[in-house]
Amino acid sequence: MLPTPPLLLVVVAVLLGGVCPAADNSGAEQIHLSFTDDVTTIQVTYSTFQPVKASARYGTDHVSLPGLCPGERHVYQVLGPAGWSEVFWFRAIPEGSDWSPRLAVVADMGTLTGIYSDLQNPSTLPFLVNDTREDMYDAVLHVGDFAYDMFTDNGTKGDEFLRQIQPVAAHLPYMTCPGNHEQRANFSNYKNRFSMAGGTEGMYYSFNMGPVHFISISTEFYYFLEYGFEQVFSQYNWLRADLAAANQRSIRNVRPWIVLFGHRPMYCSHKPNHACTEWHDRLRVGEDEFKPALPGLEHLLVSSGVDLALWAHEHSYHRSWPVRDGTVTDTGGDPYRNPGAPVHITAASAGRSTDKKPDVLQWMPWTAHRSSTEGYTRLSFHNATHMTIEQVAVGEDGAASVIDTVTIINDQHFT
Ligand SMILES: [Fe+2]
Repeated sequence: MLPTPPLLLVVVAVLLGGVCPAADNSGAEQIHLSFTDDVTTIQVTYSTFQPVKASARYGTDHVSLPGLCPGERHVYQVLGPAGWSEVFWFRAIPEGSDWSPRLAVVADMGTLTGIYSDLQNPSTLPFLVNDTREDMYDAVLHVGDFAYDMFTDNGTKGDEFLRQIQPVAAHLPYMTCPGNHEQRANFSNYKNRFSMAGGTEGMYYSFNMGPVHFISISTEFYYFLEYGFEQVFSQYNWLRADLAAANQRSIRNVRPWIVLFGHRPMYCSHKPNHACTEWHDRLRVGEDEFKPALPGLEHLLVSSGVDLALWAHEHSYHRSWPVRDGTVTDTGGDPYRNPGAPVHITAASAGRSTDKKPDVLQWMPWTAHRSSTEGYTRLSFHNATHMTIEQVAVGEDGAASVIDTVTIINDQHFT
């Protein structure tokens, strides 16, 4: 039987103004996708710099594509101020929970040029592009720290980064959270360049994919308090309500996995002077030097049965044993079967290379595996009870190999 032909969509948007050349002749560039609150609608975000007629407007625009056929492959073009973009494709995710999402996780990636160019190299990007062409994923999670920094040179560094990831992000929803390197001007470059659901300018939100509930948070609220204490509490209250809703029996029975991602880790395997190796990590246990005290998140994650926490910021790969209150629940037998506490992954080796030396790493009580080799992480949610984490290492010889694999089995979500 012949395969079903892809559905053709046309994104019509007229944006105005500017001088920089685009990758094709359309004037539309930095094209990237994101989920909305509705699986049958996807959002296309792009920028333009070319003048159109007498108008002087330019910038970033967002276009929703509603009415998608779940599970089907669609092709689309963007109509920029100077013509049509090249043709891109994406696959709308299936409806319901009975399918197997596959994701790539990256963070701290950087660009090829700039003030940190001697320290960074997005060496993983060609491999992500290849994986995307081979239709290996349904989405990408970028866990903060995009370019160093997006505001640099009046935002041209951010433009460079968005152009760089287009071969991935024009095909796969590119879901984000803010990192510390996005903090300039209250995260304005981050807020304006990405289009996430939730009405918080992408600072915190959640979305569903099959049997998984994903939650994105800003760990940076806890560290850039000059932008306001209130948002720490707003996020905490939202998170508590979101987790309570996800844990309603009728919902968790259908969507049992809960995965949270945010930039700064609660647990890591770096040498001291990193908060995530201390017992009083602010994000984990809160901070009582302020009135009112900042609420820590770990007890909420544990009591809500969060399965997996994805972090970045410390430039290496780290996998924890299931851990709570700094104590590993079990390291013998099969600790990843019904673990009883979140597993923490740090996936921060996609490019920034200041720490890519084994001697910055140390074994902590919660360390199960760590690596300073550049790479990225894959998540595969096979079904309601089994999911697999893989770490891909990118070698200097241009080869990629899987250096860590673990499968979490949980058949007690329903009890
Ligand atoms: Fe960071």
